Amino acid sequence: MLQPSPDAITPGGGLWGGRLLAFGALPSTNDWAMTHAGELHHGDLVQTAHQTAGRGRLQRAWVTPPGLALTLSVLLDPHAMNALRPSWIGAAAAIAIRDLLREGGVAARVKWPNDVLVSGRKIAGILVERSGATGPVVLGLGINLNQTAADLDAAGLRQPATSWLLESGQAHRVASCLPELRSFLESTLPLATASGQPRLAEAWARHDALAGHHVRVDTSQGTIQGEYLGMDADGALLLRDPSGATRTLLTGDASALRITPPG
Ligand code: BTN
Repeated sequence: MLQPSPDAITPGGGLWGGRLLAFGALPSTNDWAMTHAGELHHGDLVQTAHQTAGRGRLQRAWVTPPGLALTLSVLLDPHAMNALRPSWIGAAAAIAIRDLLREGGVAARVKWPNDVLVSGRKIAGILVERSGATGPVVLGLGINLNQTAADLDAAGLRQPATSWLLESGQAHRVASCLPELRSFLESTLPLATASGQPRLAEAWARHDALAGHHVRVDTSQGTIQGEYLGMDADGALLLRDPSGATRTLLTGDASALRITPPG
């Protein structure tokens, strides 16, 4: 039994013919999908108009006012798709959101590990979680749709943020964005497999907000600065530190500093 139960279940509304389970309000779509993973199918999509206790990366809160954001989670079975690699799913989803925004006339970039930015301001975040080492994966996506500058200020965010409304001057309806996002995800998620990874790496490099920059990365062990070298095949950030050593960073917050001089 799906409890609390969705307000609407639409067959074929998820990915690859999965269902769309829509809720008026839910604490967190990721939590709900994780709790009910055993009853969900590959490609089922869980969406809510009002997420009351959304979670972000690194145990942070993800705050979205009711009705102003696209908040959803997708249940993915890594075995159902030619060995989908969980560590690449977030990057593939970030590219899908970038493509969605591009279609809507907004030029966005992706930033390690899997943020989407417009002019350096965060417009979307992604949280990938897995139940156990071999269980299903929950891909959580939060896209700022219709927040005004005052809404974003009121949220007290720790980094500059923007919304699709602010970038395009137009309001965006969940009902029309969702099918488009779904079809972009259907195109990019297959890149999170061994055979798709070279194309994923190429798409990431093309739209990488950190490319060509010196970066600062805040980690739980402290802050490291250096020349950004890109992402490795496991999704870790590579950086040349001031001593010339290459560092491999698995988690943290990265920001672009000055442009790296050529040569
Ligand atoms: C981040 O940038 O820190 C990740 C934010 C992820 C937010 C989404 S909104 C839908 C899904 N449910 C959650 O509780 N979190 C993710």
